[in-house]
Amino acid sequence: MTRVIIAPSILAADQTRLAAEAKRAQKAGADILHVDVMDGKFVPRVNYGVPTVKLLAKAVQLPLDVHLMIRTPWLVIKDYAKAGAASICIHVEAGTEKQIVQTLKLIKKHGCGAGLALVPATPASKITPALLAECDYILPMTVAPGYSGQAFMPKVMPKFRQIAKAATALKLKALFMADGGVNDKTAPILAKAGVTAFVAGAAVFCAPNAAAAIKELRKAASR
Ligand code: DX5
Ligand code: ZN
Repeated sequence: MTRVIIAPSILAADQTRLAAEAKRAQKAGADILHVDVMDGKFVPRVNYGVPTVKLLAKAVQLPLDVHLMIRTPWLVIKDYAKAGAASICIHVEAGTEKQIVQTLKLIKKHGCGAGLALVPATPASKITPALLAECDYILPMTVAPGYSGQAFMPKVMPKFRQIAKAATALKLKALFMADGGVNDKTAPILAKAGVTAFVAGAAVFCAPNAAAAIKELRKAASR
């Protein structure tokens, strides 16, 4: 059985104590720390930048998965890689196919895992063979990007099957990460669709006991 990866999203943590919250997630049994970066253009809000990723990389031993909800991500890949990202996920909507292929290559050139996210409104057909061949994981978002604590959108689910089918036709395996409204009720639905890595913001950081929440999620995702 494939190992289930639980990646708490620091966006749902107490924003005045980021290092302590990251440590709390690590102690609670997280596998990865998911760090959402927003530029106020791709999404309405602005939040962290490179210095925050550097700080988090120092605070915990967990691999950092940096989700760039930004325009022109190719301009900052080197900076986030140097800051300590283990994997970097960019959005397919952030540029042309050529720009995105080149950015995925750039991420890998800097020694990071390359992820490709799509917002709920973007169809699976946007993930072309050229893109599929370059990404280490695919993240079809199950909420509108920008906020944690939103409700899971079940209407996104057929997209997982469509992308998996396209990958199989190319003799590739689609490694899925889920992001948005993941909890112990939605994790089994996602797991059934082939998701093995689960980003969870509110379900972990807003739970009364983060360790119990992670354990519960892991169990739900293994069903
Ligand atoms: C949303 C972010 C998510 C968010 C998930 O734009 O990409 O990572 O923090 O939060 P929950 O799990 O609360 O939906
Ligand atoms: Zn995210």
